[in-house]
Amino acid sequence: MSDFAELHYNGEIIKLPVVEGTENEKALDISKLRGQSGLITIDPGYKNTGSTRSAITFLDGEKGILRYRGYPIEQLAEKSTFLEVAYLIIFGKLPNKAELEEWTDDITHHTLIHEDFKVLLEGFPSNAHPMGVISSLVTSLTAFYPESLDPSSSPDEVRTSIVRLMAKLPTIAAWAYKNEIGQPLMYPKNNLDYCGNFLNMMFSTPAEPYSADPVVTNALTKLLILHAEHEQNCSTSTVRIVGSSHASLYASVSAGMNALWGPLHGGANQAVIEMLEAIKADGGDADKYLAKAKDKNDPFRLMGFGHRVYKNFDPRARIIKKAADDVLGKLGVSDPILDIAKKLEESALADPYFVERKLYPNVDFYSGIIYRALGIPTNMFTVMFAMGRLPGWVGQWKEMRENGEPIGRPRQVYTGENERNYVDMSNR
Ligand code: SDX
Repeated sequence: MSDFAELHYNGEIIKLPVVEGTENEKALDISKLRGQSGLITIDPGYKNTGSTRSAITFLDGEKGILRYRGYPIEQLAEKSTFLEVAYLIIFGKLPNKAELEEWTDDITHHTLIHEDFKVLLEGFPSNAHPMGVISSLVTSLTAFYPESLDPSSSPDEVRTSIVRLMAKLPTIAAWAYKNEIGQPLMYPKNNLDYCGNFLNMMFSTPAEPYSADPVVTNALTKLLILHAEHEQNCSTSTVRIVGSSHASLYASVSAGMNALWGPLHGGANQAVIEMLEAIKADGGDADKYLAKAKDKNDPFRLMGFGHRVYKNFDPRARIIKKAADDVLGKLGVSDPILDIAKKLEESALADPYFVERKLYPNVDFYSGIIYRALGIPTNMFTVMFAMGRLPGWVGQWKEMRENGEPIGRPRQVYTGENERNYVDMSNR
């Protein structure tokens, strides 16, 4: 196998080195292409372009493989905890007992947020989408921790920023929800674990404490693990490029949250439920909506279907689909939209349009059905995705900074007007 490719252009032969990863992925190194040939490449949506070398996640879209630091997602979802997986993604190894205890203790004791956050929260109208609220409040962490603004400071300072963000996001998310529904804010409790603490802040009131069913906390743990990292997706690439300007971790993650919010990305889990509800309200005719999804003149897309990388099943969707049956069964919840979702999947996977385009259910197709069964409101689904993805954003930002990667600044091909002279108003 050759370790370079030759580009023949304008009578020149340009040798481009081939880079090979530890899983035998290969890439053309074009970092010197413009200097060698005057050419740049162009690849809208970066469908064929690698932005970096990373040691965090390996996924194989054809084989439906997903591993965090080499560990298969199926094993982590079955055996690990969210904080243990977060440590693995961020620091590169499974923590030993002492490391996990220290990590858990650090996070437990940073869950409080400054009382002035209440003033910020009160400024939002009750109909504010919680994604807009949490991305704003995460950015405002830079105001409360100005020392975090300089990410090139000591590794200890970086670790403190990481701990603060991991610890405070559940509080910020739960307070955004309470503010939206007009209920009193609930404070973190140090005797609860990560998921139990979040659920308590979400669903307890001063009048009535919420006691989380282990089925619920286990399901939430599994969902957070399955969402924790996914290499160079849209929101993670956003975190990396914002962080490449040496913006703080908080500013970079807030930018990633806003990228995740889009319905083509993490916002899809909310859009899936809204789609399934619409199909149910319209009589539950799955085939009618499949026809709409195939109609190029109809803007309707089958939300929760398709993926840039997975051209076979999304391994996370498989696990979540099974968990949906398990959780709803254990909670004694029957949700008609789960049946509609299964019918849609069955019909789509037998339809040439979807088969030819290799469109399968992705991570967002079934996740909302579980969130709903756990009592989480639809407009908080993408917030749940953000909470899950936080370790991935943090780990990728940390890797990018530690590798001293340059500021991200893509080139372009200009297609506008050629040079022309200014025209006075009287001649326009
Ligand atoms: C996530 O990258 C990641 O890793 C993301 C993520 C993560 O963990 O970070 O996995 C999370 O974002 C999952 C994706 C959630 N989004 C959705 O469910 C929204 C619906 N899906 C699509 O919009 C779409 O499939 C994307 C955005 C996910 C992928 O888009 P691509 O790779 O740019 O593919 P495309 O839009 O070019 O589509 C290729 C063809 C087109 O048809 P043709 O022009 O070839 O005839 O497939 C069609 C599209 O029209 N198509 C769909 C479809 N998705 C693609 N047609 C109907 N319904 C769909 N859902």
